Amino acid sequence: MPSKVPNQPFFPKRYTAVAQIFHWVIAALIVTQFALAWTAEDLPLGIHKLALFARHKSFGMTILMLAVLRLLWRLKNPPPPLPDGMTPIERLLARATHIAFYVLLFVMPLTGWMMSSAKNYSVSWFGLFTWPNLIGKNEHAFDLLRSTHDILSDVLFAIAVLHILAALKHHFWNKDDVLVRMLPFTKSEKRTS
Ligand code: HEM
Ligand code: HEM
Repeated sequence: MPSKVPNQPFFPKRYTAVAQIFHWVIAALIVTQFALAWTAEDLPLGIHKLALFARHKSFGMTILMLAVLRLLWRLKNPPPPLPDGMTPIERLLARATHIAFYVLLFVMPLTGWMMSSAKNYSVSWFGLFTWPNLIGKNEHAFDLLRSTHDILSDVLFAIAVLHILAALKHHFWNKDDVLVRMLPFTKSEKRTS
């Protein structure tokens, strides 16, 4: 157990269970989002394509709700500090990547939601209720939002690749506990940091 130094802010050594649950549930949903969108895009217009996009919208709105909860929770719960051995540029990259992820967890669903609103297509949440339209029908806005959603999905993809490679580098090359401390059912004690 990390010891608490009097009058010093308390930083845990590992990500807490709540942080891990948020991280891995949202990561799994992001992968699902790409799988659904890419599969749907290859299909001819029809009921199957529309069903996949309806699922994409529902999972996307779930990500938005989880992102709100995650950010609120994160503001009150600081993450463990990065290992001492990291260079300033590595620290900057890690921080920039995490901030970019948090921004995209909001911007991706919001551009999707606004895009659907601009076409006056309803956004249902797994058939349980319908989200209100964010903007009125507008073809020009639709085109703009569609390309923004598309370009930002490429940016998200690129950051995710960078992020995964960094996590693997920490684990197998630096041999620190950066990956392990985000993994459930593991202990960080055995690795150096
Ligand atoms: C984090 C959440 C989201 C991610 C990662 C994501 C990702 C993607 C990706 C990768 C595509 C395919 C882009 C392309 O190659 O053209 C796509 C398309 C699309 N997304 Fe999302 N999306 C998210 C949330 C949403 C939400 C919440 C909605 C609507 C409420 C939405 C609506 C759409 C629509 C309608 C398309 C098809 C656009 C077209 O006609 O080309 N997305 N999304
Ligand atoms: C594509 C979906 C993913 C997203 C959106 C994502 C997002 C994030 C974010 C925002 C953080 C910072 C957490 C915080 O401090 O609040 C983080 C940390 C982390 N992620 Fe991911 N992640 C994804 C996938 C992955 C995958 C697949 C791995 C493993 C290979 C991974 C490994 C890690 C690790 C090890 C950390 C902790 C880094 C540290 O200690 O500073 N992530 N992730």
